[in-house]
Amino acid sequence: MSPESKKTAGIASRWQELFPFDWELLRHAGAEPVPYHLKKWWFCLGGTVAYLFIIQVITGILLTFYYIPSPDAAYQSVAHITQEVRFGWYIRSLHKWSANFMIIAVFLHMLRVYFTGAYRHPRQLNWMVGFMLLGVTLTFGFTGYSLVYEQLSFWGATVAANLAQAVPLLGDTIAFFLRGGPEVGENTLTRFFVLHIGILPTLAFLLVAMHIYLIRSQGVTELHFENEKITEEQRHFRFWPDHVTTELIVGVLLMYILTIIALIFPAELGEPANPNVTPAHIKPEWYFYFNYRLLKLTSLKISVLTTMVIGGIAFLWPFVEEWLQKKFKLNDRFSVYLGVIAFLGFLFLTVWESLSH
Ligand code: HEM
Repeated sequence: MSPESKKTAGIASRWQELFPFDWELLRHAGAEPVPYHLKKWWFCLGGTVAYLFIIQVITGILLTFYYIPSPDAAYQSVAHITQEVRFGWYIRSLHKWSANFMIIAVFLHMLRVYFTGAYRHPRQLNWMVGFMLLGVTLTFGFTGYSLVYEQLSFWGATVAANLAQAVPLLGDTIAFFLRGGPEVGENTLTRFFVLHIGILPTLAFLLVAMHIYLIRSQGVTELHFENEKITEEQRHFRFWPDHVTTELIVGVLLMYILTIIALIFPAELGEPANPNVTPAHIKPEWYFYFNYRLLKLTSLKISVLTTMVIGGIAFLWPFVEEWLQKKFKLNDRFSVYLGVIAFLGFLFLTVWESLSH
């Protein structure tokens, strides 16, 4: 052994003493074969969601260095980040666009899981964990939007609190908890801030850990396509380095796309919040358009009840489907048709709302 390699081996064994970790186990776990279809990016969108979440955490921490969560100073601090802090506009734009990408990626990931039937036995629980992650992601978007404290986000928070109040039985308690009082005011911003940077990230980490644990222990669904011939090389497609390489390429590409979008459409700032003047057109973020259109078409109570019923069925769908199939002798095609109808309905209400004033 050359003196150089002896030195390296010495450092490695010293490090192993200080931090006894079974690297062999990690290497073994990483090299596990995974289904070859994971080479196709659209089948492993969950990884893209996780990647965008990491961007959100990093850019979010950087924004928190300058953001002030008080009604008197919040708007000014966002203006300061956007106009004066070095690269502040870029970090804020990345945070904003990556949030939108993350929501699109979660929806697409969910559609992939649904239409490939990957939620069925034994992955019912993981579907429910995923559904909670969808809820957490949407709440992240809503609370983050409200933190800017501009007119639209202030009134968006007011509408959301009113919607929460219409929830049967617990409505008043939820709305009071969110607002920190009977009206949107001083305490509301602090609560949204705590939710956005404390409670939701903790929940997200715990749920993602559980999601990944279940995926690791149950494995990813094997999909077989017609006329697909699996070669020996494909049979040995491994998590590391094969699948991780795909994820890394997508990661670099996404960062590139996000930067270009941030340069062309940097995050803007509207009028500061004015609790005394209701704006002519209140608009939530696009991912709540379908809800907002439903509210305009019906009433507060009906729109909230409809959302709760549809949300509840979707959350429990793997079990509801099992029950429906047994009771009415339905086949898998029924679920596909239902999924298409639900998706088109969502799209229709979203586009309708986006075209209206
Ligand atoms: C923050 C949000 C989420 C993250 C980070 C995430 C992450 C992942 C990852 C990395 C996988 C492995 C394979 C793949 O990428 O498809 C996966 C699979 C899965 N996800 Fe998610 N996911 C999220 C949200 C959701 C949602 C909203 C649902 C459905 C309601 C869901 C249901 C599932 C199921 C059932 C699987 C197993 C799929 C299979 O076996 O083929 N996930 N998720």
